[in-house]
Amino acid sequence: MKIKKAVFPVAGFGTRFLPATKSTPKEMMPVVDKPLIQYAVEEASKIGVEEFIFITHHAKGSIENHFQENSDLYNMLLNQGKDDLANSVKNIGGPNAKFISVDQGEPKGLGHAIGCAEKYIAEDEFFVVILADDLIYCKERNVLEQMKEQAEKYGKQILALEQIPEEDISKFGVVDPESSEGSISHLKGIVEKPLAEDAPSNLAVVGRYLFNKSIFAHIDNNNAGKNGEIQITDAILSNINDFIGFEFEGDRFDCGSKVGYLKANIALGLANEELSLRLKKYIEEIKDL
Ligand code: UTP
Repeated sequence: MKIKKAVFPVAGFGTRFLPATKSTPKEMMPVVDKPLIQYAVEEASKIGVEEFIFITHHAKGSIENHFQENSDLYNMLLNQGKDDLANSVKNIGGPNAKFISVDQGEPKGLGHAIGCAEKYIAEDEFFVVILADDLIYCKERNVLEQMKEQAEKYGKQILALEQIPEEDISKFGVVDPESSEGSISHLKGIVEKPLAEDAPSNLAVVGRYLFNKSIFAHIDNNNAGKNGEIQITDAILSNINDFIGFEFEGDRFDCGSKVGYLKANIALGLANEELSLRLKKYIEEIKDL
């Protein structure tokens, strides 16, 4: 299976992170030294994606600018002998990367945002959707590599799943499994943001989707769902037999929330060779505060 395109809905207002997100999209917030959106682009690049489609709204310029070449900066760093830094600002997304921005207009919901990518996806083509504020750290194969393997095995569209504690389940789309085999769930339903007592399972859909073009026929822009938004959950439900759920291996950080964002900085800081020792020492020093 070839996956050449990835869609990044980045049009939300990021209200949980105001005032930081007043004029900067939350996807531009850095974890350690890279903006969230760059982690997402690099993750997609790893499975061979070359076309990166941003569904944008406010303050979109800064995301586009980030992926444009800056040869002055690159040459200056090279001249200073800072080759590593120079390479870190060049060819983000790979040598053939193409970046496209589509204006969502108004953020009418995730289903509507994904629907904005329809004209860029060919008949029968598979593509991925990444919510960059869900940063997923994997020690070995990244979450998209794992999902692609399952799509090839089962010939279906894939939802990334995570077990969520009861007190948080009402913030997510939650699947209703018919049966499970290991990390795979065969599905008979999905519900958007159910009350904890009504949730059909503890398995929530998190920010990675592997779709094919068929999803667009199920997005109904005339029928808002939960909270008055066009929900992707409704589109998935209307074609549920074509989906499987997959519990990936890796740690997800909800960087749209303050505590998730702080945890991501600590975890990735500790995983960073250059920072790890000093950070560990500091954590040890302050652990009783
Ligand atoms: P969220 O609901 O987590 O993002 O949507 P938000 O609305 O920006 O954040 P809060 O809740 O107000 O803090 C998940 C993802 O879907 C995108 C958002 O940008 C985010 O990456 N999204 C959501 C869109 O692109 N368009 C929409 O209409 C809705």
